[in-house]
Formats: sequence, C-alpha cells, structure tokens
Amino acid sequence: MAPADLHETAKELVADDRGILAADESSGTIKKRFDTIELESTEENRRAYRELLFTTPRLEESVSGVILYDETLRQSSADGTPFAELLASRGIVPGIKVDTGAKALAGAPGETVTEGLDGLRERLQEYRGLGARFAKWRAVITIGDGVPTAYCIEANAHALARYAALCQEQGLVPIVEPEVLMDADNDIETCYRATKRTLHKVFDELYHQRVDLTGILLKPNMVISGKGSSTQASAEEVAEWTIRCFRGTVPAAVPGIVFLSGGQSDEQASANLNAINSRGEQPWVLSFSYGRALQAPALAAWGGKSENVEAGQSFLALRARCNSAAVAGRYSAEMEELSRSS
Ligand code: 13P
Repeated sequence: MAPADLHETAKELVADDRGILAADESSGTIKKRFDTIELESTEENRRAYRELLFTTPRLEESVSGVILYDETLRQSSADGTPFAELLASRGIVPGIKVDTGAKALAGAPGETVTEGLDGLRERLQEYRGLGARFAKWRAVITIGDGVPTAYCIEANAHALARYAALCQEQGLVPIVEPEVLMDADNDIETCYRATKRTLHKVFDELYHQRVDLTGILLKPNMVISGKGSSTQASAEEVAEWTIRCFRGTVPAAVPGIVFLSGGQSDEQASANLNAINSRGEQPWVLSFSYGRALQAPALAAWGGKSENVEAGQSFLALRARCNSAAVAGRYSAEMEELSRSS
C-alpha cells in the first residue's frame, strides 16, 4: 500500500469529529472488567459483549474506528458476520492491538518495556487479511521516585518505532501509544515533564526508523494530575499543559492525536477533551481513543444479561456522542442529562 493510502486512513480516523473505540482488552483485562459485573469471562460472553458494542445504533456517527483484540478479530456476530466485516459495512474502520503486553524491564525496578516484535511482520500480514486497517501498540511509562528513567523511555520508544515501521511496510496505520500513567500522587507539572521527555524520544526514534509521520496517529495521555494528588488540576489547566506539551514535541505532519482515557471518569474525559479543543486551532486534530471512558457505563448497564443489551448500547451511544461533541468543542455537562432523557 502506498504511503498516500496510509495518510488517507489516518485522516479518515479523525475526520468529522469522530474518534476511536478501544475494545481491545486482552483476555486478562476483560476478565477484570467482567469481574466488576460478576460475569464469567467465557469466549461466548466476550463475543456477546463485543456484539453489543459493535451493533450499537448510530455508533458510526461518532465512532470512526474500533480497536479489536486478536480473539475478537476472529469472532462473528450471532448471524455469522465477522466483526471486522460488520464494522466496515457501517463505515467503521477495524483495527487490531498487536503488542503482547508490558513486561518488567531488566535492570529497571518498577518499570516495564512492551513486547511483541518477534514475528510481528507475519502477524500484521495475517491481520490485514482478516480486515484490519490500523494497529495499536501501548508502551507504559511510570511516574515515581527516580522514574521514568531515560533507559526505560529509550527502550519503549525504540520498540514503538520498530512496530510503527513494520505496520507501514505492511499497509497498516500504526497508532503509537506511549502512555504516561496517571496512577501516582504527582502534580501536573511532573506529568508534563515525563510526557515531554517521552514524546521527544518517541518522535526521535520514529524519525530515525524512517516512519512516515503523515501515516500515523499518536495516542497519548493527557497532561493531568496524578490520581493520588491532593490538588487536581481543572479542565482548563489540563488543556493548557497538554497543548503546551504537544506543541513543543509533536510535529505538524502528524494528522491526529487520539487520547486514551487512562482512568479518568467518563465525564472528566469528555470535559477535558472539550477544554483541549476549546483553545483554538492546532496543527493536528485532537480526538479520542477511549476504552474505559466509553465502555464503563455500558458494561455496568448490561451486567451480562441479554434483556439489558439496549440499555448498554444507549450508554455507549451517549458517551460516544458526548466525546464527539468534545472534539468539536461543543460538549457541556447538560448534554449528559439531555441525552439521557432524549
Ligand atoms: P483507556 O481509555 O481505558 O485508558 O484505554 C485506552 C487504551 O486503549 C489503552 O491502551
């Protein structure tokens, strides 16, 4: 596939105020999510849950793409339509998580490096054959005493760039996800510094490894206070620090930045995205690629019961609409109430 097609796909994923639904929880992670509704994580329950998500009415109005997990890309809806085909027929681009997880980084206590490069070229070829048009790789950077280390940032940035180069070779748009975690008790300035160091290194490696920046999407954390911090920055402060950080590190050639939600509440993730998009024109589209902040209320409303499928879908549709409005800078807290009663 020519680079022009990669650029077109990347642009399509962030066009018309739409964003991405991250539904690529690994078997371990989806089990944790199902534990919260006391549902056993069987292959059929995972399939039924993903069918609920992917058949949500009007989802395509606010969702441009869905990230799938290996098992999900091989599954079908109850009527036998492969999920990738079902999504594509609705104008939603199927994508695939291709890393194999963050593992302890040797010699760096408390830090991780993401694995999955071995055999990746062949796996990408297979995924393309199954209908995937973009991919995702998540690197995890931890904030703490003396961390992140330069060693950890470098190891992860190197792997992200190797993954991205292979994706482009195989005609898939790489979503490059360096996530600086928001779990610690740090202030927002500490998050700013760690995110800036990380993004500098990531773009340095992407350049060295000949990745075409017009054919990627960046999936970062927002610059935000740590969850355990006693002072929580407002949405306006999050927007200011986030934009300042990206304007200093992310080249204008990148078509879009699609944020992860990272443990923010549903409404916080919408309010922060809205504030980010209310600060005027930027070189890139700023949209969403949320997992928990799109799915959490849908999962709770469903509760694993077939009679609750519609209720679950209405919550996913609500979150998708709110976040799409936030991309346009038109989200307000009242939307939550209005949408619920409409
Ligand atoms: P969250 O929005 O729940 O952080 O998930 C996004 C994602 O895909 C993490 O890799």
